[in-house]
Amino acid sequence: MPRPFIAGNWKMHKIVSEALEFAGALARRFPPPQERDIVIAAPFTALHPLGQALRTSAIQLSAQNVHWEEQGAFTGEVSTRMLCEAGCRYVIVGHSERRRLFGEQNREINLKVRAALAAGLKPILCVGETLEERGDEKTFSVVRKQLKEGLNNLNPDDIRRVIVAYEPVWAIGTGRTAAPAQAQEVHRFIRQLLEGLCGEDLAAAIPIIYGGSVTPGNIRELMAETDINGVLAGGASLDVESFSKILQF
Ligand code: PGA
Repeated sequence: MPRPFIAGNWKMHKIVSEALEFAGALARRFPPPQERDIVIAAPFTALHPLGQALRTSAIQLSAQNVHWEEQGAFTGEVSTRMLCEAGCRYVIVGHSERRRLFGEQNREINLKVRAALAAGLKPILCVGETLEERGDEKTFSVVRKQLKEGLNNLNPDDIRRVIVAYEPVWAIGTGRTAAPAQAQEVHRFIRQLLEGLCGEDLAAAIPIIYGGSVTPGNIRELMAETDINGVLAGGASLDVESFSKILQF
């Protein structure tokens, strides 16, 4: 069983001073060593100062996006090398907001996953169905396609370094969480797909985390499910009090 993996996705929130204030408070509350992975996915501008401030802490840093090319004429993009220099160990790839609002496709998402792994970053690959797809009973086929295409051309050794985030689109920012059993059903399905890709032993060690309106009030029942190894919290990660409560589930 992977150890609990608790990540906060700040999205487009917090300037550097706010990010540092939050990180300082969090690092004081959760000094090393910790028995869980604690990760903050901050906006690009805050990554480097956070990386400096959190260097000796138990809090690890993630970016929210990355480009797959190493460098070049890609105005507005950020490379894996830049993220590594800033102190990131993780990068979120294929978040539903990137897919929906910025048109990201599985093919590009796969390139990002591969670039991240090649640079030594662990990708947090997001998958999840929309409300309409769930209504049409397409949840499993959508998740299968996103996972298979997102992990295309990777060997088992690469796949074991990926974190998979199941984030039903209808539960993100809506206050509507998937019922724990409903999430578990999809997590189990993802685990089985991973077993098919890299074998039972490696698949058992891959964190499959849940995202979508996670709060201090529902974290415990979600974490009680066998295949839910952690969470990706958005709104509830913006406040140090509520994120701390989630970490102490
Ligand atoms: P939410 O966001 O917790 O605000 O629903 C989760 C996410 O988008 O990762």
